[in-house]
Order: sequence, then structure tokens, then C-alpha cells
Amino acid sequence: MYACICNGLKDSEVREAARCGAGTVGQVFKSLDCKLNCATCVSNVREILEDELIPRETLMAAE
Ligand code: FES
Repeated sequence: MYACICNGLKDSEVREAARCGAGTVGQVFKSLDCKLNCATCVSNVREILEDELIPRETLMAAE
């Protein structure tokens, strides 16, 4: 499924960017060498990020 139609970014690419350290929508786009265009995808990308970042924070808290 596409997370960002303008850039042809897939959900999996956003998840991978988050796993590699991107913590904001801007960092995701920058790390994937993309630019925000229409911004329709921002809430979708943010949801994917939160989905990836919350487990990371939970793991770090458990250490
Ligand atoms: S859908 Fe992502 S910038 Fe347009």
C-alpha cells in the first residue's frame, strides 16, 4: 500500500525509515530523498511512524 502517492512511497519504506532513525515526517521524507508536495499523506505517514516508534519506546523503557 502506498503511504505517499506523490512520491510513490510505500508503507514499508516509511517503516524502514523509522527503524533507521527517522522520528518525524520531515525526517522520513529527507531520509528517502523525497519532498512533501500536496501533504495529503502527512497524517498517514505520521500514523505509520507512531506505530513504529511506540514499540521502540516501550522496548527502551523496559531496558
Ligand atoms: S501524497 Fe504525499 S506529498 Fe502528496
